[in-house]
Amino acid sequence: MLPDQTTPDHTPAEHKTTHDAADDPRNETLLIYVNGEMKPKAEAKVSVYDSGFMLGDGMWEGMRLYNGKWAFFDEHMDRLFESCKAVSLDIGMDRAGILDALTMTAEANGMTHDVHCRLMVTRGVKVRPFQHPSLSRSGPTVVIIMEHSVPTASKGRGIRLATVPQVRGLPMSQDAKYNSHSKLNCVIACLQAEQAGADEGLMLDPHGFVNTTNACNFFIVRKGQVWTSTGDYCMNGVTRQKVIDLCRDNGIPVLERNYSLFDTYGADEAFLTGTHGGQTPVAEIDGKPIGPRPGGGGPVLDRIRALYKDLVAKNTA
Ligand SMILES: Cc1ncc(COP(=O)(O)O)c(C=O)c1O
Repeated sequence: MLPDQTTPDHTPAEHKTTHDAADDPRNETLLIYVNGEMKPKAEAKVSVYDSGFMLGDGMWEGMRLYNGKWAFFDEHMDRLFESCKAVSLDIGMDRAGILDALTMTAEANGMTHDVHCRLMVTRGVKVRPFQHPSLSRSGPTVVIIMEHSVPTASKGRGIRLATVPQVRGLPMSQDAKYNSHSKLNCVIACLQAEQAGADEGLMLDPHGFVNTTNACNFFIVRKGQVWTSTGDYCMNGVTRQKVIDLCRDNGIPVLERNYSLFDTYGADEAFLTGTHGGQTPVAEIDGKPIGPRPGGGGPVLDRIRALYKDLVAKNTA
């Protein structure tokens, strides 16, 4: 009998992802927004003819709710509307309409704080099971999943990265700036990392420079300077931009530049950014420990995390 190829035998004993959150039994009884209606989690469904299911033809945003306010709402809406415009996907509502739908979902679930939301918009149900966008004729499908969410990835050991063979693509194939439902490039990278015994995949750009991970943006710290990729080939992360702006505003030297794995292995600190976890320390890359602490991170990351916490508090006050 052939071995089960779906079960990697290098899976780390202690599995960790950047989107880990504390278990919360309330998440079993959520109400989910599906095209204007609130549905119990088990009954929240979309058609098998939906373009998101069939083709990954949709866009999404991950956002967080604190004190009854969506952190960096305008920035998330800028990205969503720009992405949808670029692929001629009519969301069918404006920003105020999206905010109303978010408010309806949060209220239905009695949620005000420490909430993570996945807002998804697809081209909608197709009349026949084929690719052509014109086969989606009944308007978009809009789904909002909100979960109670206290991220835990920054606790305990830091994230282990493995550099993976899967690279970021050139913008003329599928621009990495589309936060599209089709994340197969990233999913393959994540599988490759897992099969190498790591938590997340560190992805290079087509020229071999260090770019990003499969689910987060990537930063290193060298001699007090914060480095991240030029921004080409990676998701234009809201958190990435906030970190760059915070560094600039607070006298921390920050460079968007090309750099190699050589520079990365020699970094003093490394960390990931994303809406869910904010900034998450990286402990190890390709088996090499990074930074002064076994759990990853260091003094520069500590400072950035404190600045970001203040920024979120101000933005959602
Ligand atoms: C591939 C990838 N990189 C980075 C990010 C982080 O982006 P943000 O900071 O806007 O959450 C995401 C999240 O959507 C992503 O999918």
